[in-house]
Amino acid sequence: MRMHWQATVALTLALGGCGGQSDDPMPSDDAAGSSGSATDPGEPNNDDDDDDDDRPDDGEGPDRDDDGSDGGSTGDPVDPPEPEPWVWELPPNFPEPYVPEDNPMSAAKVELGRYLFYDTRLSVDGTFSCATCHQQELAFTDGAARAEGATGMIHPRSSMTLTNVVYASSLAWGNPELLDLETHAPGPMFGDAPIELGLVDEQDAIARIADEPVYDALFAAAYPGDDDPRTLDNMIKAIASFQRTLISGRAPFDRWFYDGDESAISASAKRGWELFNFPGECTYCHFGFNFSDATYFPSLFEWPLPFHNTGLYNEDGRGAYPAGNEGLYNFTGEPADMGKFKSPTLRNIAVTGPYMHDGSIETLEEVLDHYAVGGRIDTPHVDFQMTTFELTPAEVDDFMAFFDSLTDDSFLTDPALSDPWR
Ligand code: HEC
Ligand code: HEC
Repeated sequence: MRMHWQATVALTLALGGCGGQSDDPMPSDDAAGSSGSATDPGEPNNDDDDDDDDRPDDGEGPDRDDDGSDGGSTGDPVDPPEPEPWVWELPPNFPEPYVPEDNPMSAAKVELGRYLFYDTRLSVDGTFSCATCHQQELAFTDGAARAEGATGMIHPRSSMTLTNVVYASSLAWGNPELLDLETHAPGPMFGDAPIELGLVDEQDAIARIADEPVYDALFAAAYPGDDDPRTLDNMIKAIASFQRTLISGRAPFDRWFYDGDESAISASAKRGWELFNFPGECTYCHFGFNFSDATYFPSLFEWPLPFHNTGLYNEDGRGAYPAGNEGLYNFTGEPADMGKFKSPTLRNIAVTGPYMHDGSIETLEEVLDHYAVGGRIDTPHVDFQMTTFELTPAEVDDFMAFFDSLTDDSFLTDPALSDPWR
């Protein structure tokens, strides 16, 4: 796993696109026009997107049932009538996303998933849904430092944005085991450490929506040919399908960077983008079309699983993070993994505060203060790619203008992603 990540970094440096060394942060025209063109800003490896055959690390990568297909039919001998084929409406420069083979996309499944995602019946007291902690106008976060579950239990971590979650190479802040949305969903539904929705089990989940007639047609359309489609498995697949449509790539930044519309963002925001590259060197970890190195899509040559320590804590002089919030270390027990978390996407970042896994940084200005000193506290495990830099007040303003240019209003207000129960 660590090898993959280092390989990514090496390649990144070799191409000179992500370390901030480049004088010209704009992509060259031919880079945008050729190959999958998911290369920007600073995608390290996408020249190599002809096929999966030559993925060098296939054997070692995390074991997801990816055969490189685009999630078409499974070819089951008793195939029910095929639903309308799914057509991705992707922003320019976004690669085709990964979809597990056993859960192909369909419009009917997405619609069912939207109802379930927003359904407060699916919680212990009938007041919570996924959307309570993942609100559209906040790019599917909740505005709180740490999430509060249906029983009032405070989550150790902050609700994460679901912006472009279809591209996330792993799910949750520091978990290397949750590799797809189907595997993740039972956590918030049934988990008790902490309680999020507080459901008991499959029967409980099914019973809570049994009386809702709207679901008869929705389940029937989503799972045609299925005699008893109201199963937990089908619910989870539908919720996952809905989440795969939470795609944001039409921010003002994109209209400038990809479409070449010079008037889409201010001169200040353009300067901010340059500062982000250098001296910020933010693109070491927040690179590519999704501003996150924890990004996967099928034409990528490997499945990256990067996690980094950004120097937030040193509880014991030896780099310990607060107990229970130790990131990757909580899964591996490896001292070197202490405090390592996933780099979130920075798309819509202006509306997703407070920041970091525990919401311990209130504002984006304070995030910059944290990075300017190479991590707000000295800790032996801090990532070697963390640098130090100084910004003038005017440059801080430029940075903020750049962050604002990543806010995609069409995503935050898209009716197709909104609460269908209202
Ligand atoms: C009580 C608030 C709460 C509820 C309710 C909730 N979540 Fe979350 N969600 C969180 C928190 C907190 C995290 C970060 C979890 C962690 O790192 O341990 C998260 C993380 C996620 C992620 C990972 C995103 C990423 O980029 O890694 C997904 C996906 C997600 N939630 C989907 C859902 C779905 C689907 C539901 C409903 C079935 C749901 N959540 C219900 C608070 C909530
Ligand atoms: C070494 C990799 C790395 C570098 C370099 C880096 N980041 Fe991060 N970034 C991360 C990780 C990992 C997190 C989550 C850390 C945590 O929660 O403990 C993060 C979190 C953030 C967040 C909060 C995201 C959220 O949803 O809460 C912002 C904003 C951010 N980074 C901006 C920047 C900026 C601006 C720079 C450059 C000045 C930068 N990052 C450089 C890895 C990095």
